[in-house]
Amino acid sequence: MSAISSLFSVASKSVLITGGSRGIGLMFAKTYAANGANVTIAARSEDVLREAAKELGEVSAANGHECKHTYLVGDSSSREGCEELAAAAGEANGGSLDVLVNNAGAAWGEPFARKSGRMNWGFDKVLDLNVKAPFYLTHACMDLLASPDRAEPGRVINVGSVVGLTPQSAPTHAYDASKAAIHHLTKKMSVDLAERNITCNAIAPGFVPSKMSAQLGTYASFDDIAKQTPLGRLGNEDDMGGAALYLSSKAGAWVTGVILNVDGGAVGGLQIKLADEDE
Ligand SMILES: NC(=O)c1ccc[n+]([C@@H]2O[C@H](COP(=O)([O-])OP(=O)(O)OC[C@H]3O[C@@H](n4cnc5c(N)ncnc54)[C@H](OP(=O)(O)O)[C@@H]3O)[C@@H](O)[C@H]2O)c1
Repeated sequence: MSAISSLFSVASKSVLITGGSRGIGLMFAKTYAANGANVTIAARSEDVLREAAKELGEVSAANGHECKHTYLVGDSSSREGCEELAAAAGEANGGSLDVLVNNAGAAWGEPFARKSGRMNWGFDKVLDLNVKAPFYLTHACMDLLASPDRAEPGRVINVGSVVGLTPQSAPTHAYDASKAAIHHLTKKMSVDLAERNITCNAIAPGFVPSKMSAQLGTYASFDDIAKQTPLGRLGNEDDMGGAALYLSSKAGAWVTGVILNVDGGAVGGLQIKLADEDE
């Protein structure tokens, strides 16, 4: 019987998080840092990464940990970019990794009927980063993540979305399809990766304030979405971080191929209030 402090521990684990410089990726990174993990964050903007890595150092120190936090600059939307990132992350972490979080993502949307010249560009950008990159990066990291200890498998966590589970009204067709695809890929890869003693799961968030969701927010305000969410609010750092800790710790060691909704109930449908409901 394990006490909670060991059951959910990620202390000393090495974690690579794509898109870890802001938004949900930084929420994951700060939770791992607060709990004693060594975190490597990756993204394109070096200035933002540098600030985020500094914040991770402060968060771990404030929680009594002495951890190593690094950042890697690069574009992970190509196979070459993923292979370079895996090699650099391996080097920065002594030739192995305990957890890979495929979080970096892009969104794009336009009304279906609009005959826009940006359609190819938008669709390719979204599928390259949201679907192909997690596949290539997981592939490139699988030897780093392989674990000889059956009680402590390596972990892959993909970031999907509630919009990949239930179609919603925003005209983000490529994005929604990419999230359905990453959920399916998660289940497929969980079987392949089990051979190397690596689990593979997805977290499917609902609406969480970030730079990306602020853009999607042009279709509805944060306040309205919070009110329409069955549990009455948007997602936060503890919601995201708690799910990642579960999937990265002993508590989640025998969980694989799962899509974990963390969405305040949004998968059941946002509760849109009809105009005459108060009458
Ligand atoms: N926020 C939500 O409500 C919500 C809900 C469900 C799912 N999600 C998913 O959660 C994940 C994070 O989203 P977020 O809302 O936190 O978005 P965000 O605030 O826009 O952050 C995206 C992160 O990805 C990085 N990134 C973007 N393009 C990249 C590229 N080509 N190569 C490497 N890094 C890149 C960004 O840094 P640089 O721009 O510097 O590269 C940034 O660190 C995504 O997979 C998203 O689909 C979000």
